[in-house]
Amino acid sequence: MLIRREQAGDILSIDAVHRGAFAQAHPGHGAAAAAADPAEVDLVHRLRSDHGWIPTLSLVAEVQERVVGHVCLTRATVGRFPVLALGPVGVLPPRQGEGIGSALLHAALGAADALDEPLVGLLGSLEYYPRFGFVPGARLGIVPDEPTWADHFQVRPLTAYEAAMTGEFRYAEPFSRL
Ligand SMILES: CC(C)(COP(=O)(O)OP(=O)(O)OC[C@H]1O[C@@H](n2cnc3c(N)ncnc32)[C@H](O)[C@@H]1OP(=O)(O)O)[C@@H](O)C(=O)NCCC(=O)NCCS
Repeated sequence: MLIRREQAGDILSIDAVHRGAFAQAHPGHGAAAAAADPAEVDLVHRLRSDHGWIPTLSLVAEVQERVVGHVCLTRATVGRFPVLALGPVGVLPPRQGEGIGSALLHAALGAADALDEPLVGLLGSLEYYPRFGFVPGARLGIVPDEPTWADHFQVRPLTAYEAAMTGEFRYAEPFSRL
């Protein structure tokens, strides 16, 4: 497996990753649900056009020259502090459970730390993300801008984190349409 930066030719493959990963994550019923793309496919397109997009922090996992996973980190803020939001992250269903998601997470967090970014926030499973050092946001005094997300909102402080970074975590604008 290789983890590398997204390139221009990867866009359709990244769509396919999130189409597969999130169709399975939120299955619908009936023909309309089956035909509609999960919201995460469009979210990545909107993020690419947003000023919060950071091309260096959109990563793919490749196995035998095929893109099988994707993660991106985009600009977010906590109060006046620039931080990062992680997501979406997806792995093609037949390749899940092989460590690909973990490799993407470690690569993304390592890159963010090397860039002196102070903190990464995400909404996600309370079982999966603590293994990467994520803690509930409320423990560090950081809450998401959408209160209904608070239960699953987690943050990972990095080397440049400062305890003064408290308050509301604001995602890039495309997340507000989810
Ligand atoms: C979440 C995801 C990216 C993980 O990628 P992966 O390559 O399957 O993960 P890994 O192989 O590195 O890790 C597998 C572990 O993660 C756990 N895991 C995977 N998805 C999980 C989820 N949604 N909730 C809780 N645990 C999860 C597995 O149970 C397994 O646990 P174990 O190591 O204790 O056996 C992938 O399963 C996926 O694309 N899921 C659908 C989309 C999604 O839900 N994205 C995350 C939104 S927050």
